[in-house]
Amino acid sequence: MDQFVIEGGVPLRGEVTVSGAKNAALPLLAASILADGPCHFEGVPDLRDIRTMMRILGELGVEAERLEDGTIRTEVTDPDRVRAPYELVKTMRASICVLGPLLGRRRRAEVSFPGGCVIGPRPVDLHLGGMRALGARVEVADGYIAADGSGLTGGGDVYLGGPFGPTVTGTANVLSAAVLSPGTTVIQSAACEPEVVDLARFLVAMGAKIEGIGSPTLHVRGVERLTGCRYRVISDRIEAGTLLCAAAMTEGDVTVRGVDPGTMTAPLAVLARMGVSVERPDEDALRVRPGGRPKPLDIVTLPYPGFPTDLQAQFMTLLSVAAGNSFVTEKIYPERFIHISELQRMGAHIRKEGPTAIVQGVDHLSGCPVMASDLRASAALVVAGLAARGTTTVERVYHIDRGYERIEEKLGALGARIRRENPAREPAGALSP
Ligand code: EPZ
Repeated sequence: MDQFVIEGGVPLRGEVTVSGAKNAALPLLAASILADGPCHFEGVPDLRDIRTMMRILGELGVEAERLEDGTIRTEVTDPDRVRAPYELVKTMRASICVLGPLLGRRRRAEVSFPGGCVIGPRPVDLHLGGMRALGARVEVADGYIAADGSGLTGGGDVYLGGPFGPTVTGTANVLSAAVLSPGTTVIQSAACEPEVVDLARFLVAMGAKIEGIGSPTLHVRGVERLTGCRYRVISDRIEAGTLLCAAAMTEGDVTVRGVDPGTMTAPLAVLARMGVSVERPDEDALRVRPGGRPKPLDIVTLPYPGFPTDLQAQFMTLLSVAAGNSFVTEKIYPERFIHISELQRMGAHIRKEGPTAIVQGVDHLSGCPVMASDLRASAALVVAGLAARGTTTVERVYHIDRGYERIEEKLGALGARIRRENPAREPAGALSP
């Protein structure tokens, strides 16, 4: 298994460009099931999760290939296939995104029920309730969600609010099913995340009729058919936030390009309150300037436009070296704290009290071997390793590979001393650069 070896303490300097957003690209690719004719997607990052989605599409009779120019082309070749098998779904929960498109276009879906997850319980009851509200018959049997949309009526109200706010991929699913359902469907408490907005724009580009995009109330007027189209995925606000954190943590001077700062208001406000200087040299660029220790702060994760849970671990890492005590409260996944014990091994003083972490800022972190079992926690450990004194080995980087494209190359170009190695395969070499 690959690991990163990081020699910490080098301030990052230079420019870096973020990739397209994984969490936007996954439901977009799934929605290509809806299209009559080929779709071309630009800016889709080359990641393990994306390759998994392409394999699932293959199982579902959608040819999906990455062309030489980097775009992904999809085309439906066998519209009779409706089963997303356990072997693939178990490797990626976002596979559930094919449920809505299958139901909308093929009126039938059999999707393996997604299993457990280290960031806490991740039910799909809201997805299933949404499909039922559209008129589908939905059963769970033998580990599969079986949905029959032959009686899809649409034309009603669907409520997607849950105990922790609206569901992001649930909104994607219901929206994707509603666009080809009869009548006008009103989705209430829809997620407003930029990734959901991106999906809605893609559906509109295919011919769907959706009003209220970006708001919690979506009006969807069903149409007879959708055509293929060419579409560019939005850039990854979580990757951008992670890079800004890494820059601030190492007291570096980094310009992050290709970002949409309008989708990052909460993390940027939090950085400003921490005393981190972030400028906007261009429309699509953010620059972190070197500063001193960050100021302590209270952060609460919330649905968009609140502070994103997917940046919680990285910002907690930054607060672990703040000049004072901070509170980080997780309101989306109250158990998403697996990074705490690893940060403690690096010298951080963090205590968990229910859904809140109490972070007592220390002067510095110290490198050591660490391991994380989820994407953003692993990213946080890389951020920690970049600033820590000494050498940090981050094990199991396949988690990072699910969501960060060429991350060690990007960080290496900013001066980070980071190297990927596979202890079972290679002898240790020199650190880059
Ligand atoms: C999406 O997951 C993202 N994944 C997650 O990113 C992200 O953390 C999450 O949204 C929240 O922003 C993708 O886009 C592929 P939810 P999703 O349904 O859609 C509860 C990453 O690191 N809930 O909005 O699965 C749920 O338990 C990943 O890139 C129900 O109660 O999240 C949670 O507490 C991790 N019933 C909250 O709602 C349901 O049916 C939000 O979940 C569905 C969700």
